[in-house]
Amino acid sequence: MTRSVLAITDIRPAYTAQLAKRYDLHRYDQIDDKAAFLDRMGDKITAVVTSARFGLSVDLMGRLPNLEVITSFGVGYDQIDLEACRARGIRVSITPDILTDDVADTAIMLMHATLRKLVAGDDWARSGKWASVGPMALTRSVRGKKLGIVGLGRIGQAIASRAAPSGLEIGYFGRNPKPVDYRFFDRLTDLATWADILMLSCPGGPATEGIINADVLAALGENGFVINVARGSVIDEPALIKALETRRIAGAGLDVFYNEPNMDRAFAAFENVVLYPHHASGTVETRDAMAQLVVDNLDAWDTRGELITPVA
Ligand code: 8YV
Repeated sequence: MTRSVLAITDIRPAYTAQLAKRYDLHRYDQIDDKAAFLDRMGDKITAVVTSARFGLSVDLMGRLPNLEVITSFGVGYDQIDLEACRARGIRVSITPDILTDDVADTAIMLMHATLRKLVAGDDWARSGKWASVGPMALTRSVRGKKLGIVGLGRIGQAIASRAAPSGLEIGYFGRNPKPVDYRFFDRLTDLATWADILMLSCPGGPATEGIINADVLAALGENGFVINVARGSVIDEPALIKALETRRIAGAGLDVFYNEPNMDRAFAAFENVVLYPHHASGTVETRDAMAQLVVDNLDAWDTRGELITPVA
C-alpha cells in the first residue's frame, strides 16, 4: 500500500514532486481545513517531511497516532521534540554534513563583512559619498584577532579550520574539551573576555536559550563583535540590541533571529550590523543535496526500515 506522507512545507519543488510521485503526499501548508483533514487522515499518516524551520509541533504530532518517521530538511532539530519522539518510538532524520561548508563559509563571510563594513562600503561607493565626501572611515582587521567559537561541532570546526589560516587565534566553549589544538574555555564569560569575535555555531533549543546574555556581551566589550549562524534563541536579543545601541560591543553579523522572518526591526537601524536572512545553507547546490537526502531518508525507511542520517 502506498505510504501516506504529510509534508509540512515544500523542501524544494523538484524534490517535493518526486515525493508526490512515490507517496500519497499531503501538503499541510496547502490544506485550508486542517482540522477536517486530521480527522479524516490523521491515523493514516505514517511519515512527516518537514524542515529545521518548521519542525513538528507537539500538538500536530499528537494528531498522528501511527507516525513512524520524521525526515527533516536541515541540521538543526530544535523545533522537534526528540524526547517525545523517542517515547513514542518515532524515528527522526536530519541533513548533516552536506551543509557544513556553506554554513562555515557564510560565518566567515559575515565576520569579514562586519569587521570590514562591506555593506556600508558598498553604500559609500554606490551612493556617490566616495566622490562627494571622500574616503570612508577605516575598518577593523580580521588578522590577529581572537575568535571565540561557541559550539565546536561539525560547523564550528569547519569555521575554525577556515579562520586559523587567516591568522586568527582560536578558542572555544562547549560541553567538553575536544581533541584539537584550540584553547578550551569551560566558562562562556571567560571565552567572551578573551575573544575579540564571538562566533556562535552551537545547536538551538532549551540548553542554549539566551546564553549570550548581557554579562557575556559586557565581557566581550566595546571592541568585540558577535557573529551568529546558530539560532536566534541563543542570544538574549533585547540585551544585544541594548549593547549595540549603547556601543558596549563594536558590531554584529547575524544570519539568525529570535523571531524569523519577522526579525526585530531595531537591527535594521544599526550601521555596525550586517544582516543575512537565515540563508547560510541557502545555495542551490546545498539545498538540492539537502532535499535529496530528505527523499533518500524517506525511501530508506519505506523500503528497508532504516534511516541514513538518523538523530533519533
Ligand atoms: C535550514 C538550518 O535548513 O539546517 C538548519 O538547521 O537552519 C537551515 O539550513 C533552513 O532554514 C530550512 O529550514
